[in-house]
Amino acid sequence: MTITQAQIEEIIELEYNIHLFKVKSPEIANVINPGEFLNIRISDLPIPLLRRPFSVCDVEDDFFYLMFNTMGMGTKLLSLKKPGEFLDVLGPLGKGFNFKDDFDRAVIIGGGLGAAPFPFLTKMLKSKKAISTFIGGRTKSDVITYGLENISISTDDGSYGFKGNVIQLLEKDFGKINNGKLKIFACGPTPMLVGAKDFAEKNNIECELSTECVMACGFGICQGCPIQSTEDEDKYLLVCKDGPVFNSKDVVL
Ligand SMILES: Cc1cc2nc3c(=O)[nH]c(=O)nc-3n(C[C@H](O)[C@H](O)[C@H](O)COP(=O)(O)OP(=O)(O)OC[C@H]3O[C@@H](n4cnc5c(N)ncnc54)[C@H](O)[C@@H]3O)c2cc1C
Ligand code: FES
Repeated sequence: MTITQAQIEEIIELEYNIHLFKVKSPEIANVINPGEFLNIRISDLPIPLLRRPFSVCDVEDDFFYLMFNTMGMGTKLLSLKKPGEFLDVLGPLGKGFNFKDDFDRAVIIGGGLGAAPFPFLTKMLKSKKAISTFIGGRTKSDVITYGLENISISTDDGSYGFKGNVIQLLEKDFGKINNGKLKIFACGPTPMLVGAKDFAEKNNIECELSTECVMACGFGICQGCPIQSTEDEDKYLLVCKDGPVFNSKDVVL
């Protein structure tokens, strides 16, 4: 883990107000793994006080990419940054995806901005494993397909792709992809993660979930990001340190 001043090389505006920052930092780009995250100090001023966590969306040579949309003050200020400005970055943090396990096909499931960590995972899996990607959103403007492969799309309102949620789409198409050993990787809103976990358990498939919560320190000191362990109802894990990626069998959502 390091704190570094990383320079924004390029800002790419994707459709529907999604920002993609290409940021130069060999110290991070050369060591970070898919699913790990960075805690970014947005401003030199005391507001917002806390750093904001972001997945690394992709890595290319000495550069990492961040993907975000505007949620509140932190992401609004971040969206105003210009190429050449520096970001104060703490990372890499957390535990990422175990993508080198023994499986034949990665089943990637993303909901909304939950697609953010998957271009990097897709890059690491490509040419080694088969990939089937299921992307869902409430409506067409929530659907993010940047950097993904072999994509099936669902929207709740039917404005793009299958009408329904992404787990229903997976259930519908399961027969087409159910060959060899599967492993699910999911990131998105909690109801979607619950659906992915239930689907995995019902079909006896290994499943990793990238969870989210509001964070403070980002590395296990403040105890501000608990998630209940399945081991014992009194036992809590920390999303920032033990996760954000967990085996679906290890946590209660
Ligand atoms: C491990 C991890 C990885 C993340 N990766 C990305 C990413 O790649 N791209 C991205 O756009 N966002 C990502 N997020 C979420 C991102 O950190 C929040 O969007 C950001 O903190 C919002 O900051 P803000 O100041 O703009 O909003 P705030 O003003 O802090 O919050 C605005 C609203 O969003 C809610 N909120 C804040 N953080 C979260 C959260 N984590 N989950 C759900 N609701 C939240 C608040 O409760 C509030 O209602 C990630 C979060 C985690 C924990
Ligand atoms: S954010 Fe401080 S312990 Fe997780």
